[in-house]
Amino acid sequence: MMSRQLLSGHKVEQASEEVVKNMKILPFIHGVVRILPEGWLYPGTAPTFIDRIHSVKFRSNDVMVMTFPKCGTTWMNEIVWTMLHNPDLENPKADETIFLRSPDISFDMIFDSKFLGGKPMEPIAKRFEEKHPGRKMDMGVMADIIEALEGPRVIKCHFPFPLLPQDILDTIKVVYVTRNPKDMTTSFWKFFSTTNVHEFCGDIDSFAKLIMNDGMIYCPYWPHVKAAWEKREHPNLHFVFYEDLISDAMQELRKINEFLGTRLNEEKLEAIKRYTSFSSMKSRKELLSDDLFKKEEPKEVVFFRKGIVGDWKKNFPPELQAEMDQWIKKNVTGTDLSLSWALAE
Ligand code: A3P
Repeated sequence: MMSRQLLSGHKVEQASEEVVKNMKILPFIHGVVRILPEGWLYPGTAPTFIDRIHSVKFRSNDVMVMTFPKCGTTWMNEIVWTMLHNPDLENPKADETIFLRSPDISFDMIFDSKFLGGKPMEPIAKRFEEKHPGRKMDMGVMADIIEALEGPRVIKCHFPFPLLPQDILDTIKVVYVTRNPKDMTTSFWKFFSTTNVHEFCGDIDSFAKLIMNDGMIYCPYWPHVKAAWEKREHPNLHFVFYEDLISDAMQELRKINEFLGTRLNEEKLEAIKRYTSFSSMKSRKELLSDDLFKKEEPKEVVFFRKGIVGDWKKNFPPELQAEMDQWIKKNVTGTDLSLSWALAE
């Protein structure tokens, strides 16, 4: 493939066969690309969909939930959607899968997985066809699904700020969530190992090394987080740590309430806190289609796995703990992004 330039100014290169082989996941039909200078690795169809975002008509009441994967995206999506659309917990639309209520603007590229055969999953394809009868899917479906959504829209996004329109924060609000990279890695490893879409075959050590060496799709992690951290003083950006949500959800919900301007009282926030708790979300099976996972038994809900802080301790061998701590220290040095609580000691 010839080198190509994105509307964001980034350069696109085909990732080498070695990089693709080392990922130990199911292949993508169009291979894998690396987007420079940061080096983001995505399925080969990603450039078209990233450019497509630049022609989306964003609205001033849009809220985007932006994350590196496995940092608490779905939790935040449900919190924001509930605050905006279901503050009394009576909206029947809440029964619809979160994939459709809070569509992922970065999802199209994943349909290129050989497992999915280059096609969106059925509920997503159905929604696209309902809203845009006869329209071709070659520019992706997610942006069109989002364009047809009633406001205030809650948009999920795994792409980092540098790939989006540069002035996006002048129009929309963004809630950015991150998490201890060791828990992110554990969650990511379990997720990629259990989903039929990717079927990562390797242990936590090999997965963590791919994360640290920017060798897995969605990587690199640090430029993603830092690009948001640098913008945290912008009035339209709200930066959240998963760990803070776990330790004091009410305090975080109050801040989100203020950020969104939803003016919900304490009683409503308490009710939303319970409704979006791990056990409550896990019990609402319809929330997220879970049929793309390997399961011991059909009723098992795999996506909502543990929802805790520190699960890495059970999964990381000691050498890996030390290695990841070094990696964290190296990457936060010279920034005021303090992740000291993420380290082992
Ligand atoms: P674990 O695998 O550590 O359990 P994402 O939505 O970005 O893919 O992140 C998924 C992670 O968030 C998973 O972590 C999942 O269990 C956790 N999660 C989802 N809903 C949650 C909730 N309501 N409370 C706490 N954690 C939640």
